[in-house]
Amino acid sequence: MKRVFSGIQPTNILHIGNYLGAIKNWIELQDKYSCIFSVVDLHAMTVKTDPKTFGDNILMMAKTYLAFGIDPKKSLIFRQSEVPAHTELTWILNTIAKISELERMTQFKDKAKQHKENVNMGLFGYPVLMASDILLYDTNLVPVGEDQVQHIELTRTLAERFNRLYGETFVLPEPMVKKHGARIMGLDDPSKKMSKSSPNAGNYIALLDDPAVASKKIMRAVTDSGSEIKSGANKPALTNLLVIYSLLSGKDIKDIEKEYAGKGYADFKKGLAEVVSGFLSGFQKKFNVIKDSDVRDILADGEKKANEIAERKMRDVKTKIGLTF
Ligand code: AMP
Ligand code: TRP
Repeated sequence: MKRVFSGIQPTNILHIGNYLGAIKNWIELQDKYSCIFSVVDLHAMTVKTDPKTFGDNILMMAKTYLAFGIDPKKSLIFRQSEVPAHTELTWILNTIAKISELERMTQFKDKAKQHKENVNMGLFGYPVLMASDILLYDTNLVPVGEDQVQHIELTRTLAERFNRLYGETFVLPEPMVKKHGARIMGLDDPSKKMSKSSPNAGNYIALLDDPAVASKKIMRAVTDSGSEIKSGANKPALTNLLVIYSLLSGKDIKDIEKEYAGKGYADFKKGLAEVVSGFLSGFQKKFNVIKDSDVRDILADGEKKANEIAERKMRDVKTKIGLTF
């Protein structure tokens, strides 16, 4: 069975873009692939974290995976920081990663601009840690949003370079990006992706938003000129809302357009608000009944297994490099 690996950073707010662009696809992969899903807590530290809330965010992230249906009987779930091989391999890959390659990463450039006061080495080396996450487990496929494809290309470059220098060691991974949902845009500005770092809470629907608040955000979402409910390149705002509607309801965009033919934006938004609040209530009901102690047990089990796989890989890496005698 092919290996799938992915992860999300446990920063405080997860939004429907994270679900539609990432977790939703993971659920469907569990029966076809050998899946590993990590809570990449060390990546989260590349921007400022608060010791008072960090642990809760990590727990919440793992609980979110479980509430959406990541099944610990099928998939491995673990915290990155509990598997030391990730940082160990990062150091080794750092010695073959070029500064010029890392400087080209658009996420680094964006984040460096956003956090001018804290452009740290971790932020710069972030893609190397991500490469280690992926390469330790002989990953074939990495399901992510479009914004992460550049990091996976760099992962391939590093894997190829290592294999060339030291002999065949790493599997070359491929990104797996869904066409729709790969980029959910902000409700307040359809030219930028939905993001929890937006200063305007109206930009995103958080997974733990009160469904009534979420409905209001939908009603206030920016629309395009005209009045027809139609997707298309000249209607970026409406296209985004239709994609959200379609992915959350399972209906085709064409069918939704037909359903709202002759109706206005207000009717369409009301319908979408119902879909969104139904989705949120369903998720929150599941999320709220998962016990912290169960999450801890599931993680401990995942970490034991992840450590076994990762340690085996590290032994191979060290032997290839000649760090043994
Ligand atoms: P982040 O929260 O930026 O660490 O992203 C976690 C995962 O969600 C990654 O796989 C991203 O590609 C995906 N993601 C983040 N924002 C969006 C978005 N607006 N639309 C689709 N996917 C997203
Ligand atoms: N960088 C990814 C993001 O921001 C998160 C991530 C870290 C990841 N390690 C990974 C995703 C390994 C896939 C595979 O979304």
